[in-house]
Amino acid sequence: MKLFGFMIPLVCLLVISVAWAVMGITESALRRDLLQRGAAISHVVALSAGYSLLSNDRLALDRLASETRGSDPGIVFVAIRDAADNVVAHDLVAERGKPYRAAQPVKSLGTFDDTRADEVIRNGRRLIEYTTPVSFAGRRVGTVSLALSTEGLAAAQRSIRRLIAAAASVILVLAVFGTLVFASLITTRVKRLHEGVLSLGRGDTFRPIPAPFQDELGDLTRNFNRMAETILSQKADLQRKASQLEESYLGMVRVLAASLDARDPYTSGHSTRVAKLSCELGRRLGMNEEELGHLERAAIFHDLGKIQTPDDVLLKREPLSRAEEEQMRSHPMDGTDILRMAPFLHRYIPVVRSHHEWYNGDGYPDGKKEDEIPLHAHIIALADAFDAMTTDRPYRQALTTQGAIEEILRFRGSQFSPELADAFAKMMREQPTIENTTLKSMAL
Ligand SMILES: [Fe+2]
Repeated sequence: MKLFGFMIPLVCLLVISVAWAVMGITESALRRDLLQRGAAISHVVALSAGYSLLSNDRLALDRLASETRGSDPGIVFVAIRDAADNVVAHDLVAERGKPYRAAQPVKSLGTFDDTRADEVIRNGRRLIEYTTPVSFAGRRVGTVSLALSTEGLAAAQRSIRRLIAAAASVILVLAVFGTLVFASLITTRVKRLHEGVLSLGRGDTFRPIPAPFQDELGDLTRNFNRMAETILSQKADLQRKASQLEESYLGMVRVLAASLDARDPYTSGHSTRVAKLSCELGRRLGMNEEELGHLERAAIFHDLGKIQTPDDVLLKREPLSRAEEEQMRSHPMDGTDILRMAPFLHRYIPVVRSHHEWYNGDGYPDGKKEDEIPLHAHIIALADAFDAMTTDRPYRQALTTQGAIEEILRFRGSQFSPELADAFAKMMREQPTIENTTLKSMAL
């Protein structure tokens, strides 16, 4: 619209200026033609009247005046005067034999050879009056006066103006239409290029922009397409490398988690089972695949901090001393320190840190409660407790599934979220075994 708004006034100005110039030139040519035509007629009459004036042949002079008057509708009168300035011949009989009535010139229009042209007003009419001396054998014998009407000139000028105005209007309409088409053609291509840039910036699916024209804009579009393809290719390459790097980090952390499970034969496979139970509950709560993937990873990593717990504390069969208890309880924070090493693992830190928090705030390490504890940590706490209760420990026998469910329900509202504890109990009653549950990424 800006381009159109700029070009239309420019085109209008150009067309109007050209029409104005053409009108001026044409009117000037018409006026010059009229002046020369009148001067030529007056000169011819003067040449023809010389002998007749000298010989005083009034009949010939009258005929000359009448025929000249009749030869051109623009001629208002023709007067032939003798040397004493008396009218000898006139196309109006009443004027013959009288002294010539000269009119005061309003404006001099120039001289053409021996003929002078003046603009005069006679009987209220604006006329061009020509005065040509009549000579014969080197002697001045009289004067010819001839008047032309300017009305014909004015009519011709009006006609020319109408013609030029009509032509200018047609040209103007065509120019505006052409400008509109041209501007639209340019702006459509620029708009397509602009949308392509935005699409590339947003990371949307990019399709090469058509560039059929071999001009500067076409070159620019083709270069942009090539640049976009290079950027997208490099972006895909970077994403692939980032993904590989992420997978290698994840693999390393999984190996750490697996080696932790392997340290204690009583907790072998604990992380995997907690992940399966957590994902099954998450699925029942309506989590999408992406969120289930994050829940699964957080469950795998939840006890990662125990890698720093000494064997004599981790594997101790007897009750732990207070100091050993403190060492054991530091594993959520130790786990966050390990996860802090890679930026893309940071998202799991709040969950790993909070998996031993209690719903009523009696847990550790921060004493968080209710909604302060991440949802994934609530879920992992349930799965963690259930798996611990249903596997043998050196100091006690494993509980049955029903027994573990009752224990979990006994702690609903204190250790566990009431709603999640109910959902977990319902899930375990409906599906006592989670062996068929598959994990997305586990190869442990
Ligand atoms: Fe733990």
